[in-house]
Amino acid sequence: MKKHIAIFASGSGSNAQKIMEHFKRSNEVEISLVLTNNPDAYVLQRADNFEIPTHIFDRNEFYHTRHVIDLLKNLEIDLIVLAGFLWLIPKDLIAEYPGRIINIHPALLPKFGGKGMYGDNVHKAVMAAGETEGGITIHYVDENYDEGEFIYQAKYRIDKDDNLEMIKFKGQQLEHNHFPRIVDTIIKKIKK
Ligand code: GAR
Repeated sequence: MKKHIAIFASGSGSNAQKIMEHFKRSNEVEISLVLTNNPDAYVLQRADNFEIPTHIFDRNEFYHTRHVIDLLKNLEIDLIVLAGFLWLIPKDLIAEYPGRIINIHPALLPKFGGKGMYGDNVHKAVMAAGETEGGITIHYVDENYDEGEFIYQAKYRIDKDDNLEMIKFKGQQLEHNHFPRIVDTIIKKIKK
């Protein structure tokens, strides 16, 4: 029986794209839906290119209705993947998908996580702290930003003259190399 993934993303969606590419020809796993809070997110275009349905929601729908949950249930979604999704996941959604929501964060948590810590904000904080290594964390999602159980971490070296673009690039390379593989491992362990 095929397993189904929903991807939540708020922006460009380069990680979402890597995951869509990874499962494109799979007979076992399907990306059934891409959801976003941002009507201008480039991830919508990427999903269209893969002929994957999309859904845009606003704050009211996400936090005060069960519409998103109903949508996920109707599509028999087994795993939710947050790929650059910037809103906190509401409690009732976590309750419906315990241990079935994973996120990627562009730093070595527990450092450089929490509210407001996303994208460039994270890389800037890493630079400002004078870190000599950066990294990525893939983790389960709970009710707090960036606090669920870790699944995987990978590191890169920060050289003295690395600028923001360089650090971002190194982090993104790691994300693209590992996220689809980790999603694959997790979804295969889920029993239908
Ligand atoms: C990624 O670097 C991801 O780790 C980060 O947003 C970026 C999305 O890039 N997520 C967070 O910062 C979550 N706190 P993408 O849209 O190109 O995949």
